[in-house]
Amino acid sequence: MSRSRPTPTGFGALLLAALLLAVAPSCARDARQAPVPAAEQTGERPPGNAVASAHALATEAGLQIMREGGNAFDAAIATSAVLSVVEPISSGLGGGGFFLLHDARSGRDVFIDARETAPASMDADRYRTADGGFDRDRAENGPWSAGIPGLPAAFVHIAERYGALPLAQSLAPAVRIAEEGFPVYARFARGYQARRAVMERYPGTRSVFLVDGRAPQEGDVFRQPELARTLRLLGERGFDGFYRGDVADKLIAGVNAEGGQWTAGDLAGYRVVEREPIRFRYHGWTVTTAPPPSSGGIAMAQMLQILEPWDLAALDETQRTHLVVESMRRAFRDRTFFLGDPDFVRIPQRTLLSRDYAAGLRATIHPARATPSDLLSGEATPLEDEETTHFSIVDAQGNRAGVTQTVNLLFGSGLVAPGTGVLLNNEMDDFALQPGVPNAFGVMGFEANAPQPGKRPLSSMTPTFLESDDRVAVLGTPGGSRIITMVLLGILGYDAGLDAQAVAALPRYHHQWTPDRISAESGTFSGATVAGLRALGHTVDLPGDRAAGGRGSSHVWGNLQTVLWNRRDGTLTGGSDPRNPVGEAKVEPVAN
Ligand code: GLY
Repeated sequence: MSRSRPTPTGFGALLLAALLLAVAPSCARDARQAPVPAAEQTGERPPGNAVASAHALATEAGLQIMREGGNAFDAAIATSAVLSVVEPISSGLGGGGFFLLHDARSGRDVFIDARETAPASMDADRYRTADGGFDRDRAENGPWSAGIPGLPAAFVHIAERYGALPLAQSLAPAVRIAEEGFPVYARFARGYQARRAVMERYPGTRSVFLVDGRAPQEGDVFRQPELARTLRLLGERGFDGFYRGDVADKLIAGVNAEGGQWTAGDLAGYRVVEREPIRFRYHGWTVTTAPPPSSGGIAMAQMLQILEPWDLAALDETQRTHLVVESMRRAFRDRTFFLGDPDFVRIPQRTLLSRDYAAGLRATIHPARATPSDLLSGEATPLEDEETTHFSIVDAQGNRAGVTQTVNLLFGSGLVAPGTGVLLNNEMDDFALQPGVPNAFGVMGFEANAPQPGKRPLSSMTPTFLESDDRVAVLGTPGGSRIITMVLLGILGYDAGLDAQAVAALPRYHHQWTPDRISAESGTFSGATVAGLRALGHTVDLPGDRAAGGRGSSHVWGNLQTVLWNRRDGTLTGGSDPRNPVGEAKVEPVAN
């Protein structure tokens, strides 16, 4: 399927003409309490250190490093590295991530882009079958699915530029846990079973993951001595410990032995990129979030700016959900056409972020009728599973880190390069490997996200800071394309006055333009709301629909981890997604 790239403004005008239906939003907003001066102006600090992550061992590592004198950035390295050890299902040294950092001393926010890059051998034809079809196996499994890892380079960069401790010290908890092992938990064992056929194709993977010759089971102690060695080399030698020398040679040998084509130049040439975050206002909040190659920040700005004039709390659930879904539909439509790696494609960012453009999109929303996605053009595709991981940190100095990291799908490519312990990502599937052919998350793309050597595939990872006159929050979650809508619902939750734990627990729903349907977790909507949405013309998929022959989601989504500093009442709290029993949010008081 080929599709010409529409212009953002042309699209708005087309819909305006087609629908000619505008909703008059009520501009009612609460009268806020008197503003509190920014913390940087008052010198005020949080009452302690806080970490919320998807695994209690990773939360503890972050807190430990701050007890040893590290700041939130050292703690981010420690937490990230431990997640890389205990959650190979989600992220790791063989993958990448985005680090959103706030430096309290300078007041500066920076976005560290440690996304994987395509190797020099990248060529879309590699993913074509003999009959010209799409080779999904190659896109999702094994050497051609893997990009050049970015996470180790992020650790080195952050330790050098922002940390207070040597890298080896921040990596020490991860080294210890990789050596001593940790108990396999249910999600790990289930995920392994789901990917078992791919994982056991590769000798390097079998030698790491099989416990006494069998698949890991809940309660087994899982040790990774080779990964411990790789982490130690990274701590001792920095960039060269991973991207040059012994580890690099083994990564290249492991990929190429399975038919891939990596070179020493691919690894030695990898660089993290510091980017300016996306920043915009929503009600009383400043939202600081992920720029391209994440699609999340632009989509977030579009959705919230579309929604801003409505007093969502005053609407009934059907009407509120309808408007939120219509904002999602429009943002995801633009994601498909306009977003990619900003170092390779021109993104009409000024237009996409403008309030006027959002107003044009808002005007196309019918108050009492769903806009069929095919009016906006597109194809129906299935939704798939969620992976990735996120953690949030605030330290007692007021520094913050919001980090989302991934190997893409469950256990990434399934390929461990022998002798490294490094499980490689399958991030190449996040490119539009064939124009208009959806990836594993059901999202598709065109030229803007076409694969090229050295390019970064478009992501949905959306680590985000929220600041109002009295509250500061860090939040994010895994979940593929659903990350964006989960973070949106989290922001709306904070805006409605929820606390951190309630935000992490919020029920979830999602729309991504194609397929043209709302998917929802069980219990998200009342029966009356489902009926109301269907009466407006929405297709609503609920868990269980799939069993009945429908295409509903069969499980809960996401793993949202958030920290909230309330400057008005002086509290620091965390929220860890109750869907994940091994996650933990913890706060340790510090006398300032
Ligand atoms: N691999 C999922 C994402 O980056 O969006």
